[in-house]
Parts: sequence; C-alpha cells; structure tokens
Amino acid sequence: MSAGTYPHTRLRRWRASAARRALVREAHLAPQDLLWPVFIQPEEGRSPVATLPGVERLGPQALLEAAAEAVELGIPGLVLFPVIPAADKSEDAAEALNDDGLVPRSIRALKAAQPELLVVTDVALDPYTSHGQDGLLDDAGYVRNDATVNMLARQALVHARAGADIVAPSDMMDGRVGQIRSVLERDRLHNVLILSYAAKYASGFYGPFRDAVGSAANLAGADKYSYQMDPANGAEALREVEQDLAEGADAVMVKPGLPYLDIVQRVKAQFGVPTFVYQVSGEYGMLKAAAAAGMLDERAAVLEALTSMKRAGADAILSYYAPQVARWLREGAA
Ligand code: PBG
Repeated sequence: MSAGTYPHTRLRRWRASAARRALVREAHLAPQDLLWPVFIQPEEGRSPVATLPGVERLGPQALLEAAAEAVELGIPGLVLFPVIPAADKSEDAAEALNDDGLVPRSIRALKAAQPELLVVTDVALDPYTSHGQDGLLDDAGYVRNDATVNMLARQALVHARAGADIVAPSDMMDGRVGQIRSVLERDRLHNVLILSYAAKYASGFYGPFRDAVGSAANLAGADKYSYQMDPANGAEALREVEQDLAEGADAVMVKPGLPYLDIVQRVKAQFGVPTFVYQVSGEYGMLKAAAAAGMLDERAAVLEALTSMKRAGADAILSYYAPQVARWLREGAA
C-alpha cells in the first residue's frame, strides 16, 4: 500500500469536526469582499422592485441610510445605478453628462456623509437613452463605438470630479478604458480607479435589473448582442481583459457570476490582477424565488454561491445580497 491511497490516506479525516474543517478551508467569504449595488432614484423614499424581492430603489435620504448600514456591516463600498425619469432620457443621453445629475449629487452626498465608504459608479449610457441601449445609435440602429466612447469618457470625468473612488464602465465598447484613463490623467485625477467590466456577456440574467432601472421598456425587445459577449466564448474574454489592462484598467470584472466561474478562474490565473465578479439580478432572483417556494435553504445556497466565486479566484463580489450576507456572516457560519 503506497502513501496517498486508502487506508493510509482517508480524506474524510479532515472533515470529521468543525474545527478540522475550518483549519484547512481554502476559500473564505467576508463582508470586506463585498460591494453592494444599489438603485438610486431622485424622489425621496423607497420603491420596491417587483422582480427583485427585498431590493428597493433608494431616494437621497434612504441612500445615506444604506451607506451607514454598509459601514456598520463592514461592506467597503456601494455601486450606484441610477433610475432616470423618462423626461430626462433622450436619444443622445445628454443627462449622463449633467454635473448636477442624480449620480454626481449622490456621490457628493455619500462622500460627505461617509468619506471612507467607496463609491463605485456605473459608466454606461443605458439609464439615459430613450432607446435603452448602452450607446449612441446610427441610422440603422447599430451602437456607434467611437462616439459612445467619447461620451463615456466625459461621463466618467463627471463622476470622478464629483468624488467617485472607482468608475466602472459596463458598456463593452472597444477602447473606452484607454479614453477614460486619458481624461482622468489630464484632469490630474490620478488615483481614481477604473474597474472595467471586461468580460460582460449578453446574458439572459439581467432581466430584473432592466426592470429596476426602467430600461426594459425602452429596449422594447431589442438585444445587446452587437456589443456584449457571446455566452459561448471563453478565449475572447481573455483578449478583452488583456486589452483593458493594457489601456489602464485597475481591476476587471466578469459578469454574470455563477454561470461564468470558468472565466473568473482563467482570468485570475492568467493575469493575476484584481478580479471582480458580479452576481447579477437574475442570479439573485433565482435564489430568492427558489427560497420563497421552499425549494432551497436561502442562507446555505447564497453563502455557497458566493464562496464558490471566491474559490474560483474572485477578489471581490458585487451582490444584491451583500447586507444580508454580512449579517449572516456576523451571526456565524452555518
Ligand atoms: C447596463 C448594465 C446592466 C447591468 C448592469 N449594468 C444590464 C444590461 O447590460 O442590460 C445588469 C446587472 C444585473 O443584472 O444585476 N450597463
């Protein structure tokens, strides 16, 4: 009998008690791994999102309450997604460049109230376009790359000047990271981080998000296949990451999360850079619905899903479950 085989090797020995399991656990999930995506609305108060049970759109005061909650729970930052009133949406997304718009106002209020809390902003035009696409359209309805990139760079500058710690382009245009970096450097905003949604797939899991920000109605059945990645592709994700890093990205994101953990692992292994993963609205919705139907133990399933993201190599996770998970972790592991 050689070493490494039964009975000299019994892999169950390490599983025989909680203390043994804890000692050799490889992946750990903690509140400081989490970023909390929040929907913000201009009106005071809170409004529920029908397709995201437990998630609310937050008015200015409610946003500050969420910020205080995040700090109290040890969550390092919020990611802001604006709900823009229909009257402020347009073909050219001009409201995205408004220095006094909902996002810059919210950034300033957050940084004044909770200076240590990281503020991450979404750089993309879809909340602002009347057609719901992430960019500007040509006459044939195709999203124009370079004209959109020019807008995105200006939008990122508005966010950075208002005090954003991290600007996160989620649009998938080519060349946007380089242009954003250039405008930030030119403005001497050297320490603003760029978190690039480098591998963002044209996913069916974004439905509830589009309801939350109201872009589903604007899209009216249109899709984003001409710019977001084909879910069948893996090698292409590595090219996207390589290019965004070369252009000056400080961190890269894979999105959605659970169906794409192979991509997370490949990105982390190949580049060794800060790698974020987004547990998107549809992933949250699936877990919520299954738990509500009595099919899953919500806490066990959610902690397992997020721990799996850490195991795959994620440094940080965006999740609508962030505050709930932080509370579960504080109460102690199952
Ligand atoms: C769009 C954007 C989307 C999400 C974040 N930013 C949706 C889309 O591409 O249509 C989805 C996030 C989620 O589903 O939780 N810039």
